[in-house]
Amino acid sequence: MQPLIAGNWKMNGVASQLHEIEAVAASVKATLPSTEVLICLPATLITRAVQTAAGRIAIGGEDCSAEISGPFTGDFSSEMLKDAGACAVIVGHSDRRQHHGETDAVVAAKAKAARRAGLLAIICIGETNAQRLAGNALSICGDQIAGSVPKEMTASDAVIGYEPLWAIGSGQMPTSEQIIEMHAHIRACLTQCFGAEGQKVRILYGGSVKPSNAHSILALPQVDGVLVGGASLKSEDFLAICRAAPALNSPTVNSQKEQ
Ligand code: 13P
Repeated sequence: MQPLIAGNWKMNGVASQLHEIEAVAASVKATLPSTEVLICLPATLITRAVQTAAGRIAIGGEDCSAEISGPFTGDFSSEMLKDAGACAVIVGHSDRRQHHGETDAVVAAKAKAARRAGLLAIICIGETNAQRLAGNALSICGDQIAGSVPKEMTASDAVIGYEPLWAIGSGQMPTSEQIIEMHAHIRACLTQCFGAEGQKVRILYGGSVKPSNAHSILALPQVDGVLVGGASLKSEDFLAICRAAPALNSPTVNSQKEQ
């Protein structure tokens, strides 16, 4: 599977940081032409980042409404993100589940909306520390897959982001064994829900991915890419992570990629 290296800037980034996008795009184009690289940004930056990236890397959003349009002040639809130049969107990030009360049903509706607009949905799941300590990590993530991934999803319009909440921004990492066990479980759940299509959906790992650990994470055959928070803000760090990806052919996410 073509690994996907995705960044998530979260609520960070103004115009003066677009040079980080330029640096990533220039280096990916020059040295990693077959690595699939996506940076998800605050909606306010998307259009300018798309112009800066100029097709060399893909740009995505961090959330979208399930609705197309209407009286939803402050929200934006997947169609609006697409119109701004995005080709992907994160849905169900734990920041949204925790701080905005998003349920699996809400996340599934947003993933459906992404598909409707032709955006790749990065559907995030993950357990809390308490859930892991109680021995429930696998069942929690299995339930999130069953509830958050719409039945009509295909491998070309969805990616799963496994992000254990206790690893996000903490510097704490699951062991390789824990990542392998969880990713194998997610694969089994996807296959159970989606049959052969479930075999093809990429499963990204996220949570404290850094240049220092990217190689060992991306070397795991169960890991099809990474979702990077803090380390995606600095082009040097993010590029080091991109370089750790085994490069294959034919990127799929980047519809803007130069021919
Ligand atoms: P960190 O890489 O900063 O731990 O964040 C992970 C994340 O939440 C990406 O979506």
